[in-house]
Amino acid sequence: MKKNFNQSTTRIVSAGFNEIHCFDESDGKNIDQSVVDSFGEEWAKFHEFDDIEIDRLGKMYFDIINDKMVNKNTYAIDIGCGTGRWSKYLLDKVGFMEAVDPSDAVFVADKLIGPANNIRLSKASTDNIPFNDETFDFAMSVGVLHHIPDTQKAMNDCVKKVKTGGYFYVYLYYDLENKGFIFKTILKIVTAMRKLISSLPAIIKKIVCDFIAVSVYMPVILTGRLLINLGLSKMANKLPLNMYQNQPFYIIRNDALDRFGTSLEQRFSRREVQSMMENAGLSEIIIATTLPYWHAVGKREK
Ligand SMILES: C[S@@+](CC[C@H](N)C(=O)[O-])C[C@H]1O[C@@H](n2cnc3c(N)ncnc32)[C@H](O)[C@@H]1O
Repeated sequence: MKKNFNQSTTRIVSAGFNEIHCFDESDGKNIDQSVVDSFGEEWAKFHEFDDIEIDRLGKMYFDIINDKMVNKNTYAIDIGCGTGRWSKYLLDKVGFMEAVDPSDAVFVADKLIGPANNIRLSKASTDNIPFNDETFDFAMSVGVLHHIPDTQKAMNDCVKKVKTGGYFYVYLYYDLENKGFIFKTILKIVTAMRKLISSLPAIIKKIVCDFIAVSVYMPVILTGRLLINLGLSKMANKLPLNMYQNQPFYIIRNDALDRFGTSLEQRFSRREVQSMMENAGLSEIIIATTLPYWHAVGKREK
């Protein structure tokens, strides 16, 4: 099932459990190197996802995936794998997984995944995915393409690697289109803060983001939890950050760093996601109406 690379590796690094194949041929046009470096640092700090948590979140992210899309005969690729948490989640459901990321996160992924004989890790980006077109039965890119300058091109580059009749899964940030004035104003403030915070030196950025997690995220999240305990779930659902009401503090800190520490972040409406997927050559598109928004899957046409 495992295919050869379509280009020569720049170097192979023997990490803890698996070899990491490095490809440095990216033309650098559709990649934001400061974002990639920042994620390398971020994942080096936040990598202790436990299996129960991965399983719980995985069920939310992959609720639209069925056995026809992913099964033991599936040759899959995780593009922008980060810590490898979703590769790990799907590992016992696929035949073989290629996990690819341009940052040092691949070394973290190696540790999180541990010894496994149906995964290979590579350091590469969407514009130099080291496999021929039409190689994979299933490709996924979870929380990645909105951090790339030209999201549509990056999606096209991913979908090209999927066989005709195979599937492409994506998670993209949403633009709060169904939310009111207050949410949209908060987003504008957050965006301005993100631009400032993401330009800070790594250590200061981390301290500031931890402070935001404690002083901004937690009071809102704890209010939501209190409302749920009082039987007022509908009201709790209307609060900002409601997605984190059942998440551990560790994930909340990680997401605060993700949200405020990354210089490039794009957001899309449901229509834009649909149209990008169609432009990339996908049909039978399902965009979930449940959190996290937007997670979607489509089938590659001829
Ligand atoms: C928010 S993280 C998501 C990681 C993982 N998919 C997850 O959900 O846990 C975004 C990842 O995209 C990677 N990335 C950034 N630019 C990329 C590019 N041009 N090609 C592929 N991956 C990229 C980063 O290195 C980072 O690990």
